[in-house]
Amino acid sequence: MWSSHVKIGTEISIASIPASQLAKEFGTPAFIMDEGDFRTRATAWNSALHAAFGEQAGNVYYAAKAFICVEVARWIKDLGIGIDVCTGGELAVALKGGIDPKKMELHGNNKSVAEIERAVSAGVGTIVIDSLWEIERVATAAAAQGVVQKVLLRLTPGIEAHTHESIATAHEDVKFGFSIASGSAWNAVQGVRRYQSLELRGFHAHIGSQILETESFQISAERLIALLARYRDEFAIELPELDLGGGYGIAYLPGETALAPDTTLKALAAVVTAQCAAHKLALPKISIEPGRSIVGPTMFTLYEVGTTKDVTLDDGANRRYISVDGGMSDNLRTSLYGAEYTAILANRTSSAPKISSRVVGKHCETGDIVIREIDLESDIAPGDLLATPATGAYGRSMATNYNHVPRPPVIAVKDGKARVILRRETEADLLGLDI
Ligand code: LLP
Repeated sequence: MWSSHVKIGTEISIASIPASQLAKEFGTPAFIMDEGDFRTRATAWNSALHAAFGEQAGNVYYAAKAFICVEVARWIKDLGIGIDVCTGGELAVALKGGIDPKKMELHGNNKSVAEIERAVSAGVGTIVIDSLWEIERVATAAAAQGVVQKVLLRLTPGIEAHTHESIATAHEDVKFGFSIASGSAWNAVQGVRRYQSLELRGFHAHIGSQILETESFQISAERLIALLARYRDEFAIELPELDLGGGYGIAYLPGETALAPDTTLKALAAVVTAQCAAHKLALPKISIEPGRSIVGPTMFTLYEVGTTKDVTLDDGANRRYISVDGGMSDNLRTSLYGAEYTAILANRTSSAPKISSRVVGKHCETGDIVIREIDLESDIAPGDLLATPATGAYGRSMATNYNHVPRPPVIAVKDGKARVILRRETEADLLGLDI
């Protein structure tokens, strides 16, 4: 849950900087990011990919949607890994961070023509084609610019991944990609082959997010490999790449276990190797797109408590409402997916008994809940700080300005130093849009 440089002593500290000092210097709410931990996790996935697939290791494409800003894009560049972007906006940040376009992949089920043209002209290494419409759009953009664009086809392997409905992506009834079972994937293969400005490199699948077992990844790989075999049988060519997407789950609560890079990718490699052997295919280059499992645990959110109130429930039990200075604008995941988080008192220790509590935000609706049910110290009072771990993925990136609340900053901490890498939004930023 917590990043590696967080210590929980008399108060929480990260890389030796106490939470209270961070709050004083940067204000709350704030996302506190452990830079060293980010680098370690990204490196761990990259090393595990190479250990599992050897020379056939493709790229780790960090999924920018989990969290990106220009400084993090610079870290990605330093680390020498790739990036998955799914909009023109994410592409702009990745380019600004200096990432080599060849190490970029462009995703999206409804990329605009402008986004496609921009990606092609920037030299984006791979465009992952998601619909029949897009085949012609990418082909036209590439032809107009006189280049041959490398593409993958995004496939839906028909898997019910064990995760929340809104973040499962590989069953049939979904907006993404081409269904293998219905034959639409094969139509797409034939469609791409019609264009000389497209080079089909292979297939892609992303089965969903926050998945905590490896079996679904393995079934997906098997189905993609069966299609590679069909392609070889039909066209006497072996496609050289498979991208197996992201989705590796992390721990949000005490007692949960994240999917570990080395064991997860070793298990996947065993299946991929066996399936390729069974189909007499050479092992293709294997890429992955982890987002959450790199950035999720690297951040915690630091809030200040503003008010508390007790209510009596129907069964006579007491519930303490603890209101913090953020809420659904910086963490939409609780209200959107019923996601569960934990929090701890961050500025001091307390031996007061723990009582049933609900951590809520400052927004004007009842659903503005950060943590639905948690036991917290009964003496928590206005001015105390709460820290919620594992908010790095899809926290700041899905933050909104609901109720005209400016979005929180991201503060990177490394070697005992803290610095703003994404500043707090201001009211001037918000008013700047008004005409
Ligand atoms: N690749 C593709 C094509 C994706 O669509 C995604 C996530 C990823 C990689 C990265 O998945 P990850 O490793 O981060 O699980 N907002 C939701 C998650 C949506 C994920 C969308 N796609 C949440 O907060 O749980």
